[in-house]
Amino acid sequence: MRAPILLDEAGAWDAICAARRTGTPANGSTLWLEIGDSRLWIEPDGRWSADPVPLPAVGRLLDLYLPLAVQARRPFTVAHLGQSLDGRIAAANGASRWVTGPEDLLHNHRMRALADAILVGADTVRLDDPQLTVRRCPGDNPVRVVLDPMLGLGPDYALFRDAAAATLVITAADRAPPPRLGQAEVLTVPRAGDGTLDCHAIVDLLGRRGLSWIFVEGGGITVSRFLAQGALDRLQLTISPLIIGSGRPGIQLPEIQDLAQGLRPRLRRFALGEDMLFECDFS
Ligand SMILES: NC(=O)c1ccc[n+]([C@@H]2O[C@H](COP(=O)([O-])OP(=O)(O)OC[C@H]3O[C@@H](n4cnc5c(N)ncnc54)[C@H](OP(=O)(O)O)[C@@H]3O)[C@@H](O)[C@H]2O)c1
Repeated sequence: MRAPILLDEAGAWDAICAARRTGTPANGSTLWLEIGDSRLWIEPDGRWSADPVPLPAVGRLLDLYLPLAVQARRPFTVAHLGQSLDGRIAAANGASRWVTGPEDLLHNHRMRALADAILVGADTVRLDDPQLTVRRCPGDNPVRVVLDPMLGLGPDYALFRDAAAATLVITAADRAPPPRLGQAEVLTVPRAGDGTLDCHAIVDLLGRRGLSWIFVEGGGITVSRFLAQGALDRLQLTISPLIIGSGRPGIQLPEIQDLAQGLRPRLRRFALGEDMLFECDFS
């Protein structure tokens, strides 16, 4: 008799994407998937079992992504930064290729593929001219969202021209923005009390467009504002064994007087090649 073929990484990723599309049943029962010769049972919180039992590397993939893929919470916002041991995400001139290794880059693309929308700050577009598409793994491109409160970006950046995915620019409601920037649609939200864009209003605006699983990909200012305003469910920090010693910081929050005021979220940890991913749970 032929031995059953074990679930491999490609099959596991297909299963994760299928679980993201369908979710677990609303009545709280288990989602059951058949991939090749393997059967996979997924609980509403993402815990899983499989027959036959997959290799450890495949198990780690399912452990990392299934809780995010079947997450029922809406809106659901996850941010990620790849940073050095000393907490930098780029050199002072903005050079950031690459702070973390290839496994974290693949992780970034997998997170994009799970998301309805990927969101970045204006400086990331200004300095990197990124595509923000899914290229390192199978998956659909999310809607691309750029926060540009002063509308300082011109229409010539790649993501405003390439039509690879729908693109939104979000600016402040007190501006009088044109309806489009290149091919991107321009939308407005109110400012929060500190004068920055209100991150909850951004999440609500995207939710009204059916974009409720949001991946905040950087940079440090943007992720920090979401965190400071309590608008993040998860924060993923991938720490690379690199010391930059100067440059653009990752998380920056208002000063505290006592370490007891620091955040101590629940954590999940995953090795990504030479790097270590810490996922903080704020929900
Ligand atoms: N290592 C990584 O994981 C990673 C990821 C992404 C980017 N990067 C690097 O990070 C650098 C850019 O990061 P950064 O921290 O300097 O800037 P950033 O977060 O990309 O952009 C900051 C700008 O976005 C706008 N913005 C974001 N959130 C806002 C809010 N809630 N309200 C109002 N405005 C908001 C502001 O624009 P205005 O200044 O016009 O007000 C702000 O100055 C680049 O070098 C890039 O290569 C690294």
